[in-house]
Amino acid sequence: MRIDGTGYRTIWLAKDGWSVDVIDQTKLPHRFEVVRLTNRTEAAHAIQSMIVRGAPLIGVTAAYGLALALREDASDDALTQSIEVLQGTRPTAINLRWALERMERLLRPLPVSHRLTAAYAEAAAMADEDVAMCQAIGRHGATLIETIANAQATGRRVNILTHCNAGWLATVDWGTALAPVYTAFERGVPLHVWVDETRPRNQGASLTAWELGKHGVPHTVIADNVGGHLMQHGMVDICIVGTDRTTATGDVCNKIGTYLKALAAHDNGVPFYVGAPSPSIDWRLRDGVKEIPIEERDGRELSEVTARTKTGEMVTVHLTPAGSPVGNWGFDVTPARLVTGLITERGVCAATEAGLKALFPAA
Ligand code: MRU
Repeated sequence: MRIDGTGYRTIWLAKDGWSVDVIDQTKLPHRFEVVRLTNRTEAAHAIQSMIVRGAPLIGVTAAYGLALALREDASDDALTQSIEVLQGTRPTAINLRWALERMERLLRPLPVSHRLTAAYAEAAAMADEDVAMCQAIGRHGATLIETIANAQATGRRVNILTHCNAGWLATVDWGTALAPVYTAFERGVPLHVWVDETRPRNQGASLTAWELGKHGVPHTVIADNVGGHLMQHGMVDICIVGTDRTTATGDVCNKIGTYLKALAAHDNGVPFYVGAPSPSIDWRLRDGVKEIPIEERDGRELSEVTARTKTGEMVTVHLTPAGSPVGNWGFDVTPARLVTGLITERGVCAATEAGLKALFPAA
């Protein structure tokens, strides 16, 4: 997508042909900085510290991280160890395991001397596939937005509510939840996005608002608690969010707070859709609430805030009383019954086992 007129992806091979460049998402929206990853430790740190984040991007970064690891040692033992290290960086997004399992299936049977080239090629293929999947999600989801626009009074814009950042910054390009928004916007559909700030790390306020703004998409940042009020007053036509893990039965695990938006949408008859590329589906799970591991992160993400002062300095300030314990769960599960539909790269389906099977019969 474009940043001030220049096209970017979130991850790319550096000019040296082997190291990997990523956009440092911990610095946005205040600074645009690119970080170079040159080994497994740096790749693992980038995922764990959320320099890169968003389920699809985590998966692709892990794949490149494995390629970087193989530069140093491509033996069987090193492959096992590197997969373990990268797998341990974040627990909830299934794309991480999906990417590493795919890499291992390809690499393990190869002679050690062939593994490095194959790893880079596979990571690049995953990145390209991610872009294609997101574009397809964009096409399918844009039709939903257009249908709402066509049913509305002429000139009235479609109001879309989203949570966290499931835009192009969370993927290699285009995004999942936001791909339909970008596609509809480029087709000329009048629209506007309500952007949940998404505490504690504020991916909505800092990342979604930034990327929509850079692309010229009308949007408004709202506090996390506002969505229900807007829905009660007819100010939300559709919710579209992302997913870090979707069960075979259609439960959706996404950034903490998504479930509350789904409840409010259900209560107000607002359609609630999820941009769900197939690598985010965990076909082994049937009950998201019971089975999906929920990441718990450092409490300082909640008790402190880092922001830019008027003079441009970045400062971290404390919010909570010293000594008050905090709990910082990163994700929650929205049961399938609250999800109107899953927007996959193969089309939109019901959030049910039958709906998913109809689109992915071989899964
Ligand atoms: O903790 P994050 O920022 O990695 O969480 C991201 C989300 O919850 C996204 O909605 C999800 O990964 C889908 S991204 C296309």
